Amino acid sequence: MRAGHITHEGPAAEAIEIVDVETPEPGSDELRLRVEACGLNRFDVFARVGHPEEDDVFPKRTGGDIVGVVDAVGENVSTERLGNEVMVYGGVTCGECEYCLAGEHTMCHEYEIIGEDRPGGLAEYVTVPADNVDPKPDSLGWVAAAALPAAFTTAYRMMFTVGDLGPSDTALILGASGGVGNAALQYADMVGATAYATTSTEEKAERLDRWADEVIDYTETPFDEAVMALTDGRGVDVVADHVGEETWQRSIDSLAMGGKMVICGATSGPDPDIDIRSVYQHHRQILGAPMGNRQEFRDAVALAARGEVGPVIDCVLPLAELAEGHRIIEDREVFGKVVVRPSR
Ligand SMILES: NC(=O)c1ccc[n+]([C@@H]2O[C@H](COP(=O)([O-])OP(=O)(O)OC[C@H]3O[C@@H](n4cnc5c(N)ncnc54)[C@H](OP(=O)(O)O)[C@@H]3O)[C@@H](O)[C@H]2O)c1
Ligand SMILES: [Zn+2]
Repeated sequence: MRAGHITHEGPAAEAIEIVDVETPEPGSDELRLRVEACGLNRFDVFARVGHPEEDDVFPKRTGGDIVGVVDAVGENVSTERLGNEVMVYGGVTCGECEYCLAGEHTMCHEYEIIGEDRPGGLAEYVTVPADNVDPKPDSLGWVAAAALPAAFTTAYRMMFTVGDLGPSDTALILGASGGVGNAALQYADMVGATAYATTSTEEKAERLDRWADEVIDYTETPFDEAVMALTDGRGVDVVADHVGEETWQRSIDSLAMGGKMVICGATSGPDPDIDIRSVYQHHRQILGAPMGNRQEFRDAVALAARGEVGPVIDCVLPLAELAEGHRIIEDREVFGKVVVRPSR
């Protein structure tokens, strides 16, 4: 089968190769999918240009947002599942620890991510644990379904489970043109919260107007100052920050008394220089939400299937153009999601 491999650390055009490898056979509790579509995330880029926490072993095959058709099953998996159109939940866990039993899969000490700790879906076929697979709703096409899992599940946890965002709240969403940011903005709009979004270009700002009460171009005005002006000096109840050290202090300074900063990433770096008094003296909280659990995944899929929210597709690429997909994300040209169709 054909697969997209990252062969070494380096620029996308040099480090990504489309290779022929053996089609994998499912293990006893696994099934094999013919991959119809696979969404890209910032993570796919980090896997190539060096994520600070990762022990780099090449070649790698990323791709965590997988949808496809079951085409082979392991010996413990019912053959009735053959031909099913499915979506994959990306977290693989022990299933037995206190966190797994509580449904908090991403807290499991054995938590692994498909496309990070195991080969991902940027190939014609992929094997995954049968337990990780849910039916794809008929109302979602392959491309939309592949754009949903990681970004919308993470954003769902950030805004609802952790942020507890409701109609009377105000929220600030950073990087609202990106995968997680755009999903978070759509959720804020969906519940009727007052939503402010940041972005870096006029063109992206115009496209964000659809969901945001105000879009802040942070290249023109420091976004914390803009937020304080918009809220008469009160600040917002929830800030969704996935940018990291570049934005942490301004995110904290954008919060109201008792407000929550919900974080899921560190794109610009993990070592913010912050004044901790700006947190405790204002009763503010900083809360982690690195990914969502299985229930949050199902809730996110259900909301999209009903059309309450929906991924914005930046572009759909054949596997041969995987490097171009990386480039679009890395150069911050992306608006929404890049989706690859490996069988095309
Ligand atoms: N994708 C997921 O499902 C997921 C899940 C868990 C955690 N995360 C983490 O969340 C972060 C965002 O992931 P993503 O997939 O949503 O990324 P993405 O689609 O590439 O979006 C990131 C957006 O952040 C904005 N940004 C602001 N400052 C930036 C900077 N210094 N460098 C790069 N972008 C900057 C950019 O928009 P503007 O130029 O308009 O500001 C960019 O479009 C990553 O750290 C990732 O590891 C992602
Ligand atoms: Zn566990």
